[in-house]
Amino acid sequence: MISLNLTTLSLFPPKTLNPNPNHRPPNLRPITAIQTERAFEFDTGDTFFRSESATGRDLAVLAATLHKQSTGSLRVLDAMCGCGIRSLRYLAEAKADFVLANDANEECNGVIVSNLSSVCKESEGRWNVSHAIANRVFAEKYVEREFFDFVDIDSFGSDSSFFRLAFDTVKLGGLLYVTSTDGFSSGGHRPNHSLAAYGAYIRPMPYANEIGLRMLIGGAIREASVLGYCVEPLFSYYSYHGPVFRVLLRLNRGKSPHGMHYRFIGYCESCGHSQAISWDKLGQMSCPCGSDVPDSLVVSGPLWTGPLHSANYLTEMLCLAGEWGWLGDGTKNDLDKLLHRMIDESDPNLPFGYIQLDEIASRAKVNSPPLVKIMSAIHQEGYFVSRSHISNNAIKTNCPMSECVRIAKELQQL
Ligand SMILES: C[S@@+](CC[C@H](N)C(=O)[O-])C[C@H]1O[C@@H](n2cnc3c(N)ncnc32)[C@H](O)[C@@H]1O
Ligand SMILES: [Zn+2]
Repeated sequence: MISLNLTTLSLFPPKTLNPNPNHRPPNLRPITAIQTERAFEFDTGDTFFRSESATGRDLAVLAATLHKQSTGSLRVLDAMCGCGIRSLRYLAEAKADFVLANDANEECNGVIVSNLSSVCKESEGRWNVSHAIANRVFAEKYVEREFFDFVDIDSFGSDSSFFRLAFDTVKLGGLLYVTSTDGFSSGGHRPNHSLAAYGAYIRPMPYANEIGLRMLIGGAIREASVLGYCVEPLFSYYSYHGPVFRVLLRLNRGKSPHGMHYRFIGYCESCGHSQAISWDKLGQMSCPCGSDVPDSLVVSGPLWTGPLHSANYLTEMLCLAGEWGWLGDGTKNDLDKLLHRMIDESDPNLPFGYIQLDEIASRAKVNSPPLVKIMSAIHQEGYFVSRSHISNNAIKTNCPMSECVRIAKELQQL
């Protein structure tokens, strides 16, 4: 066992970002808090638990199950397991061969053991519980050459210190599920912080929540390449509760085949046009509108500018969710709608970012056009267009902002 140094280890989220409704001072009598998720009843005790994160857990269980079905193996490392709900679900639903449920906070031990015991006895050897900081677990498992098919890091803030050690713990072809909850960085309010954490200087942009996912993927790409690995995003999920940015990455050896998608993003505040800027064009940055407004071009990066998801992978997840009766099941987490939106926005013809209809309306000086109407008009003009899983009142499209503005004006006159 190690002793925890609370000055260096963030066991609890910063109060301003993630107030923990369950937080009580340590050393009080453990409390029991029974929750239900899917078919499971479990105890969250005094641990950090958010019922709103259920969708992120559903997505992870679907992916883990696909991995087991395709490779025949599923060893999971749940590096920051809290009460162990993920571990429980990896065991019970994804039929994991083995789960290591780790949380640095030893006070979680009782609830984790009790929750996992409801699936199978510890003596069956399908699970183990440990209480060390995640990086220590990764390092030990790497040294012991005990590799995992699926590593879940449900961390707080923009802590990216896990990347390198975690990569070395994942089997080649295996999956790493990473997290950021740093809405200040994605919003461009802490550019030096995002630079330190993810190597990306992020400035305020209208599609900040997508930037948060791209910053996280970009950071992972950078760290993976240091070790000679490449990572591919299988899905990227934003949830406003928190906020939480989660990305599932597949790890392999070799150089990233997606080098062209690790670039800068420019947004012109004058005309609303967005563009990807490659490294060799850094000295020639300007907006095609030729704006003479000083500083109108806002640039962030480097970050991931390619598709947020693999449509094929999400389609497999959707099929599995259907087989399990998870679609249209009346739960408030509408997985059906979410997965369909994610599949639609995976179209490689769609660029990064999304356009809020309010921004089009404000630039066109018209009322906000109905979403279905403007999507249909943009499509009829030969552009690609989809909705965004991140924002209900936004579209993703390769139609330039100036054309969106023209179309919105024309729709107003009909
Ligand atoms: C977001 S909560 C986990 C929630 C849980 N995964 C779930 O789905 O309900 C993060 C957990 O990480 C633990 N933690 C924080 N820093 C850690 C570190 N460096 N290593 C291991 N655990 C850590 C905290 O004690 C906390 O229980
Ligand atoms: Zn411009």
